[in-house]
Amino acid sequence: MISRHKKCHIITFGCQMNEYDSLRMAQILSDTYRLTPFAEDADLILINTCSIREKAEHKLYSLLGRLRPLKQKKPGLKIGVTGCVAQQLGKRLFSRAPHIDIVAGPQGLYGLPRALKAIEDGKTHIAMTRLEDKFQIPQVSVPLPIRRPTRAFVTIMQGCDNFCTYCIVPFVRGREMSRPPQDILSEIRSLVEQGVKDITLLGQNVNSYGKNLPEPVEFPDLLRAIDDRFPELRLRFTTSHPKDLSDDLISCFSSLQGLCEHLHLPVQSGSNSILRRMNRKYTIEQYLEKVEKLRKTCPGITITTDIIVGFPGETDKDFQDTISLLEIVRFDQIFTFKYSERPGTAAATFTDSVPEEVRKERLQQVIELQNRIGLEQYRRLENSVMECLIEKGQGMKLQGRTRGNHVVNIIENKQLVGQTVNVFIEKACHHSLKGRLVN
Ligand code: SAH
Ligand code: SF4
Ligand code: F3S
Repeated sequence: MISRHKKCHIITFGCQMNEYDSLRMAQILSDTYRLTPFAEDADLILINTCSIREKAEHKLYSLLGRLRPLKQKKPGLKIGVTGCVAQQLGKRLFSRAPHIDIVAGPQGLYGLPRALKAIEDGKTHIAMTRLEDKFQIPQVSVPLPIRRPTRAFVTIMQGCDNFCTYCIVPFVRGREMSRPPQDILSEIRSLVEQGVKDITLLGQNVNSYGKNLPEPVEFPDLLRAIDDRFPELRLRFTTSHPKDLSDDLISCFSSLQGLCEHLHLPVQSGSNSILRRMNRKYTIEQYLEKVEKLRKTCPGITITTDIIVGFPGETDKDFQDTISLLEIVRFDQIFTFKYSERPGTAAATFTDSVPEEVRKERLQQVIELQNRIGLEQYRRLENSVMECLIEKGQGMKLQGRTRGNHVVNIIENKQLVGQTVNVFIEKACHHSLKGRLVN
């Protein structure tokens, strides 16, 4: 049977919110388009972009260069650039790459069906980059087309009001707006009906969820409501801003059955003076106090973080404070970034930038230190039995995830995807574990 659908290929850069938005694009276009994994087959190519660091932005330009010959060969092909670079550069992208047809920011993507129709009617170069202060993520009745059988993301809020001085997000994602709990619950229900067993709630700062809803709801209330309705579901969330991590939220780690023992708590730097210049609104002492409370409430909780090295004005002493912090907290995993200047942010006006060579050296030092600490943290799990949800399996290889978010590789030829099994951990590697099934 020949499908009446056209084909759409989506390429996603950036964070989990962009992954979610890419599914949303597939969802709202599903009347007319089916997804294809091959760019060459597509009638529409959408590139969902990230502008968090300069490198992320460069990926877009090299990809656009590679797509130009494809468009020349197939004049009917439409190309759309969506997401954070689209929001930031808007119409300017058309002069940089005239073979783009549509530019749509994170709010504008909901206008894609209309824009595609207009292009078919002969319009060219459509930009949808207005940022509404009170933007609400629309509800769509068709289910989200999930990519993995067991695990999914659900965006619970848009935008960010924190304005950390290095960060572009508040400029490209607009003001913070929460989705009403009933929208979130019905989306989770539909995912659970599709077989999803592990859900991560997404927001730039989930701890301030609910602030602007007509009936105020706090984030722990939302967690309790989800846990209550879906007691079998593994529940996670990201990202938590340390300044807003409340005692009530910490207590959820011991009181809610579904809430997994993992928290990503970005610290960014170990130096109070750098944290002040980053506008992070907490001190290292306050951060450490929260880590201590978390570990007391939920022994063994996996704690991960983000670190930026080479922020303007970061001295050797400031950097040493970050090194000491890593030794003190002993994170299970960290994500490290070299500071990248973002146009329009406050830090872009700071004049005391750290030389590139020093940034590189500091990044290397942090990575090496964490490689050691991370492996030591993972080794503590050797010879224990852990509950694993099997996420994929092919031939002799199964891959699962623990509640603490460790990836576990298992040599076993069984159909177990979607099942929760007990696994004996034989060996720790960097960023993963090896184990065997326990009968
Ligand atoms: N909302 C989340 C994170 C958003 S971006 C939070 O507040 O934690 C993810 C990470 O990218 C940040 O935690 C930060 O470590 C890093 N990042 C953001 N802007 C950056 C920049 N200009 N240069 C380098 N890293 C950056
Ligand atoms: Fe960026 Fe800070 Fe908002 Fe996170 S909290 S998105 S780092 S401004
Ligand atoms: Fe990148 Fe936008 Fe996410 S800038 S990190 S895709 S919010």
